[in-house]
Amino acid sequence: MSDTPLQGRLALVTGASAGIGAASARALSKAGAHVVCCARREDALAEVVSGCESAEALTLDVTDSAACSAALSERPFDIVLANAGMAKGTASLIDGETSDWSDVIDTNVKGVLNTIRPVLQGMRDRGQGHVITLGSVAGRQVYPGGNVYCATKFAVRALYEALRLELSGAGLRVTTVDPGMVETEFSMVRFDGDRERADATYAGMTPLSPEDVADAILWAATRPPHVAIGEIVLWPTDQASTTLVHRSTN
Ligand SMILES: NC(=O)c1ccc[n+]([C@@H]2O[C@H](COP(=O)([O-])OP(=O)(O)OC[C@H]3O[C@@H](n4cnc5c(N)ncnc54)[C@H](OP(=O)(O)O)[C@@H]3O)[C@@H](O)[C@H]2O)c1
Repeated sequence: MSDTPLQGRLALVTGASAGIGAASARALSKAGAHVVCCARREDALAEVVSGCESAEALTLDVTDSAACSAALSERPFDIVLANAGMAKGTASLIDGETSDWSDVIDTNVKGVLNTIRPVLQGMRDRGQGHVITLGSVAGRQVYPGGNVYCATKFAVRALYEALRLELSGAGLRVTTVDPGMVETEFSMVRFDGDRERADATYAGMTPLSPEDVADAILWAATRPPHVAIGEIVLWPTDQASTTLVHRSTN
C-alpha cells in the first residue's frame, strides 16, 4: 500500500483539539488527506493543525446546528469522523444535574447529528463517502454512574445502525469505532479539572492511547472501497468490561 492512501481526500474531524480527534487528524493527514479540524478552542486547534501534514482549523461548536450547517454543507468531504464528545461527573441518576445531562446529550447525540447531516447530502450525490462515529464500550455496557453518558453512546450506536440501513445502495460506508478506556483530556473534563480524580481513573492499568484509536480509524478509512468496516471495539488489555479493570497494586 502507498504511504499516502488518502491522497486527494477531504476529511472532517470534530473534537480535533485534543485526545482521539487530534491523533486522528494527525494520522489521516499523514496518510494524505487534507483534514478540517473542528472544535471550540482556537489555540488548541492551531497547535494540532501545525502538527499535521495538511490541515486547517475550523472553530465550531457541534451543538450549534445552524453553525454546523453553514460551515459544513458546501464542502465535498470524503470522510467525516464525528468524534466530539464528553461526560460530566459520575453521579447516579437520582443525584444528577439536569444541566449536565443537557450538555452531554447536546454534545454527544445532537452534535453527531449536526455534524453528519450537512455532509451527507453531498456524499450521497457523489455516491461515495465514509461516515465514522466515535462510540464507546459505554454504548454496549452500562456501568454505575454512567447513566446519561452511556445512554448517549447507545444512541450513537443506534445512529450508526440507522445510517447503515438508510444509506444502503448509496455507495457510502459507515463505521463505528468503540473504545474502552483511553487516556485523554476526557477524565479531566468529566471530573471538572480535578487532576487527582482524573489520574485515579488510569491508576495501576495501561489505558489505550489516542494513537491506538486513531490507528483503528485509519485502518477502517484505508480499506478498499468495496470493504465497509462496520464496528470496531477496542479495549485496553487490562480492561475486561466497563466494570472490570485489572489494576496492579505496585
Ligand atoms: N477517553 C476515553 O476513555 C473514551 C473512551 C471511549 C470513547 N470516547 C469518546 O471519544 C471521543 C473523544 O474523546 P477524547 O477521549 O478524545 O476526549 P478529549 O480529549 O476531552 O477530547 C474531546 C474533544 O471534543 C471536543 N468537543 C467537546 N465539546 C465540543 C463541542 N460542543 N463542539 C466541538 N467540539 C467539542 C473538545 O474540544 P473543545 O473543548 O476545544 O471544543 C475536544 O477536542 C468522545 O466522543 C468520547 O466520548 C472516549
